[in-house]
Amino acid sequence: MTAKIEVTTPRAIVTGGTRGTGAAVARRLRASGMDVTVIARTPGDGDAENGAVRFVPADLTDPDAAAEAARRVLALGAPDVLVHVAGGSGSPAGGFAALGEAEWARELDLNLLSAVRLDRALVPAMIEAGRGTIIHVASIQARMPLWDGTLAYAAAKAALRTYSKGLAGQLAAHGIRVNSVSPGGIQTEAADRLVERLTERFDGDGDAAWDSLVAALGGVPLGRFATPEEIADVIAFLASDTAASILGADIVVDGGTVRTT
Ligand SMILES: NC(=O)c1ccc[n+]([C@@H]2O[C@H](COP(=O)([O-])OP(=O)(O)OC[C@H]3O[C@@H](n4cnc5c(N)ncnc54)[C@H](OP(=O)(O)O)[C@@H]3O)[C@@H](O)[C@H]2O)c1
Repeated sequence: MTAKIEVTTPRAIVTGGTRGTGAAVARRLRASGMDVTVIARTPGDGDAENGAVRFVPADLTDPDAAAEAARRVLALGAPDVLVHVAGGSGSPAGGFAALGEAEWARELDLNLLSAVRLDRALVPAMIEAGRGTIIHVASIQARMPLWDGTLAYAAAKAALRTYSKGLAGQLAAHGIRVNSVSPGGIQTEAADRLVERLTERFDGDGDAAWDSLVAALGGVPLGRFATPEEIADVIAFLASDTAASILGADIVVDGGTVRTT
């Protein structure tokens, strides 16, 4: 008699999976056969809107909303893949002087604590399952902070990267791999919004604002920002068994922008 083999579809959770990079990640994981749930405040206009992926609404800067989203996710079972993409900077241009308590709290809440609080709620079930992989999307700004419009964001992403590394060490013994991905510029509406905010400092000259951003980066050797799909491919690789021995790593995907090792 042949033993019955039960095959279950891997479950993936993608925060910020409704727009930009997160939507590309959700599409990519779904294409590789996973059951995908996305968490964001609004369904956006991609797969969450047309029902191809499950949508759980939540503002992840709100601890109660994050806890409720975690409860809904856990009702499906322990996640196999958890990708934290939600993030971004909404701060005004102007550097340290433009950042008050509210701006600092907002950037830390969205770019660090949203991931921490969701991990805290979901990791126990992953430990019990004895498997899984977690990917935190940070930024090259963790290494190379820019001051104009993104100083608090950069500090939060550096904390996220450090947190991710520490968590990787703790969860390795439980069969859970934790890594981070640090993109440079990605061609998304969020990057356009940053240039719009910088435009205020250049009397409405968008080209000058764009040039200032690229100059602050010291140029992009590749000659362009990455596409959301390119970032999604790297995340899908990290989530796959092909990356079974990659743990506690931070993968930079920046077209050569960061010049140091
Ligand atoms: N774009 C870049 O150049 C760049 C460079 C380096 C790193 N990154 C990082 O890459 C990630 C994705 O960036 P992106 O440009 O693709 O962003 P994006 O296009 O602005 O998308 C952000 C996603 O996060 C969701 N989100 C935002 N605030 C949220 C909240 N409070 N609670 C729950 N969901 C929230 C958004 O949906 P809702 O608004 O409907 O909630 C959306 O799905 C971010 O972590 C960003 O920091 C981006």
